[in-house]
Amino acid sequence: MSYKILEGKKGIIFGALDDQSIAWKTAKTVHDAGGKFILTNAPVALRMGAIKELAEEVGTKVFPADATNLEDLNSLVDFAQTELGGNLDFVLHSIGMSVNVRKGKHYTDLNHDWMQKGWDVSAVSFHKLMQCLYKKDAMNTWGSIVALSYIAAQRTFPNYNDMADNKAYLESIARSFGYFFGKDKKVRVNTISQSPTLTTAGKGVKGLDGFLKYAEEMSPLGNATAEECADYIISLFSDYTRKVTLQNLFHDGGFSNTGVSQDIIDRLMGDS
Ligand SMILES: NC(=O)c1ccc[n+]([C@@H]2O[C@H](COP(=O)([O-])OP(=O)(O)OC[C@H]3O[C@@H](n4cnc5c(N)ncnc54)[C@H](O)[C@@H]3O)[C@@H](O)[C@H]2O)c1
Repeated sequence: MSYKILEGKKGIIFGALDDQSIAWKTAKTVHDAGGKFILTNAPVALRMGAIKELAEEVGTKVFPADATNLEDLNSLVDFAQTELGGNLDFVLHSIGMSVNVRKGKHYTDLNHDWMQKGWDVSAVSFHKLMQCLYKKDAMNTWGSIVALSYIAAQRTFPNYNDMADNKAYLESIARSFGYFFGKDKKVRVNTISQSPTLTTAGKGVKGLDGFLKYAEEMSPLGNATAEECADYIISLFSDYTRKVTLQNLFHDGGFSNTGVSQDIIDRLMGDS
């Protein structure tokens, strides 16, 4: 499936760590759809080297930026505008990290310094990024900004830990900043709430395998893959969704609106 729906559009893609990353798949899909972009990730992630392979594959450049650092973000946006020759049409924030999840801290015993760090990386960075884009007036009219979220923002998934709170905050920032971006610049801001996906960030969540299987059986269409997420993202970057804004859009095969599936009931009855 390759339609040139992003021909002539320019942007920035955050968060391609390896070939499993949702941002990695998105970069390839945006490229296939005719979009041009700069890739970025935290300096520590760049040292792992894989992103350079992606940059070569799609014929672009990588600019290091810690998304919690305003100076880095300002330099990145300047670089992207110069390299791409003008303002931006799309930006993907595909960033998440919890030190408490990484170190296996239980939610009832969170380390609050780590909690703040994870909140800054996973949620506040979205405000910092948009503030930078807004103040520089770096987005074109009818541009599109997307961040990735998870349904733990609305419902309790115990192993998702403090990332649940980070995602709730992230979604709120999308609505709050999205209002001003819409009113003042005619730019849309949305979050996509994606199915559980086997990526580096996903694998960090305790018991992900069991959970993936559960979500697969609950969702009438099955879990959405990272490639499918990339397809959805480019629809939001395209001109076909110009009036969609301030939304948290579930891309989850129907999981969010399913109370229970017959597959799960059959399994439970089988056990009794
Ligand atoms: N994998 C899932 O199950 C799932 C489900 C729903 C939503 N999401 C969200 O999708 C997004 C992408 O995650 P992924 O699953 O592709 O995993 P991933 O690990 O491939 O991507 C996370 C990215 O965040 C980057 N990052 C971390 N700290 C950073 C910083 N300070 N500055 C800049 N970048 C930083 C990492 O380097 C990495 O590239 C995240 O927001 C994640 O929470 C993932």
